[in-house]
Amino acid sequence: MENNLSYIEDVLNRYKGKKGSLITILQQVQAKKGYLEQEALELVAKRTGMSTASIYGVVTFYAQFRLTPIGKHLIRVCHGTACHVQNAEGLTEAISSELGIKAGETTPDGLFTIETVACLGCCSLSPVIMIGEKVYGKLTTDKARKIIRDYKKMEMAS
Ligand code: FES
Repeated sequence: MENNLSYIEDVLNRYKGKKGSLITILQQVQAKKGYLEQEALELVAKRTGMSTASIYGVVTFYAQFRLTPIGKHLIRVCHGTACHVQNAEGLTEAISSELGIKAGETTPDGLFTIETVACLGCCSLSPVIMIGEKVYGKLTTDKARKIIRDYKKMEMAS
């Protein structure tokens, strides 16, 4: 079982015996694949001497951790201050309803993941979303819906 988890060995070795490093370990393990797979969490539990249940407790407490793979298109909706006052919440709701998932979730076909994030660094374009590396600014809920529909069409055509 541990063979296919060799990708996290270096992380586990780096923090071996270091107390208080669970969050860092989890962040670095997640950075490898974009999410925390169950087997990886079991191995982290084994090596840190913690129970799997308490590791899950930590993982589910922090929004930054993900237990399922990211979809093909990662949609990041900025909820930083500038975007917040420009209806980031409404954008998130519009995108959620287009895709039938909530923020933090991935569509069952694995195509889209919605994530809410802090400032994306382009506040003059607020409200902003990013899909992959592409920035979409000055959005309205209608524009956001259209963008998502265009992605869906593109996926259906491919
Ligand atoms: S607050 Fe959204 S880009 Fe800065």
